[in-house]
Amino acid sequence: MPCEAGFTPRAAVYDRSVTDGDLFRLWRIRRDEAVWRQDGHVVVADPALVRRVLTDPAGFAPANALDAVTPIPATALRILASHGFRLPVTLANNGTDSHPGLRQIVADAMTPRRVEALRPWLTGVVRRRVSGVVHELRDGRSVDLYQRLAADIPLLVLARLVELPVDDVSVVKLFSRSALELFWARPDTARQRELATVVGEHHRWLREVARTGPGLVARLREHCDREGLGEDHVVAALFFLVVAGQETTSQFLTLLLARLAAEPRVREDLVAGVVSAESVVEEGLRLVPPIVSWRRTATVDADLGGCGVRAGDSVLLWLAEAGRRVAADGDAFAPGQRGSRRHLAFGAGAHRCTGAQLARMEAQVVLAESAPLLRGTRVEAEPRCPANLSFRMPDRLVVRRVQEGWIQPEARARNSSGDRLPAPSGMIPARP
Ligand code: HEM
Repeated sequence: MPCEAGFTPRAAVYDRSVTDGDLFRLWRIRRDEAVWRQDGHVVVADPALVRRVLTDPAGFAPANALDAVTPIPATALRILASHGFRLPVTLANNGTDSHPGLRQIVADAMTPRRVEALRPWLTGVVRRRVSGVVHELRDGRSVDLYQRLAADIPLLVLARLVELPVDDVSVVKLFSRSALELFWARPDTARQRELATVVGEHHRWLREVARTGPGLVARLREHCDREGLGEDHVVAALFFLVVAGQETTSQFLTLLLARLAAEPRVREDLVAGVVSAESVVEEGLRLVPPIVSWRRTATVDADLGGCGVRAGDSVLLWLAEAGRRVAADGDAFAPGQRGSRRHLAFGAGAHRCTGAQLARMEAQVVLAESAPLLRGTRVEAEPRCPANLSFRMPDRLVVRRVQEGWIQPEARARNSSGDRLPAPSGMIPARP
């Protein structure tokens, strides 16, 4: 797999036909209520209530977490079926007894020790990427930081961590973004058929990996054999991991870099070591989480903050708004402020994200290595986010150099202990 080159997308997955102000643009809406009904969901924005729902699997089951928001028509279902596409309950949507065993296997693959072991390798990859970006900027070219520093890096990390045989990064990216659009956006019927073709074809590849893959896949296979769960469970777990285990982080990196580009003070503090990469990442998760909402199904009638919920209701947890409300100064990007770490970007309870530490480590590395280069650049093209109930899916972040002498050799981010990081190879003065 190419670690050095960056990533070229196969096709744009972008929908310009939507209006603002609906649940598919949750990152743009502002509402003050704690809970209300909208578009067939009970929407929960109050952080305490979001946490209550997430940590009550008996009252609020995860069964609908991966359901297609826009019903998939028979024509698209037939396409999926022709590729042998089947998705039994897996991880995030699994409220059955098989969940703890499957979850444990995945969690064991991403322990803090295993995650930390990847840090030096990842630092090298990112540093070389940053060096290339610096040279291009210095030559006066525009650079898309989404493509160069965010799109494929989490997939390369995931593949290395769990021994996933990824031959073509752009194919996996096309698949995972198509899956997010098919299941969480509102494509029309023709688009659903296109997406079903991409997702179906890729499902075949996942089935092959499920049969033969080493490492985590082999452990999932043995477990499912032993427990009588069958191959579909391995494929389903892989399906979720390949999508959730890299798209989320890649989206977060783009959103975080975009936010940092708009926060010169935080950027300077980061480069000067006044704030740590860890606290900037945490504040980013709070204010620009890649997953803005997540679903549960009410299993019994209940009262949620004065709103009557009936068994069977879809409960939409507005994670992004809950994050805004937990901090002392909710709208301010102020790393280390009171409440900064109390966000719910990774969910909570029995299904809390098993990749949280991995995502944090990746974001810290990318941030520490790339923050200095944002100093002398301006954003030429902001990320665009298509309409989607849960995922932000930014598609670009184009920057250009604005001044001479913009990268100071001594301007280097610090690590968590406050030590200055060695100068990335890209940290060179501008050409005279
Ligand atoms: C910034 C990046 C990420 C964010 C914001 C994120 C967020 C989430 C959220 C909101 C959930 C649902 C939690 C719940 O229902 O309570 C989840 C579940 C999950 N995530 Fe992540 N995630 C990220 C990265 C990752 C990575 C890197 C991996 C693995 C490599 C991963 C693997 C998983 C898994 C396996 C689950 C299902 C856990 C279960 O149901 O037991 N995620 N994530």
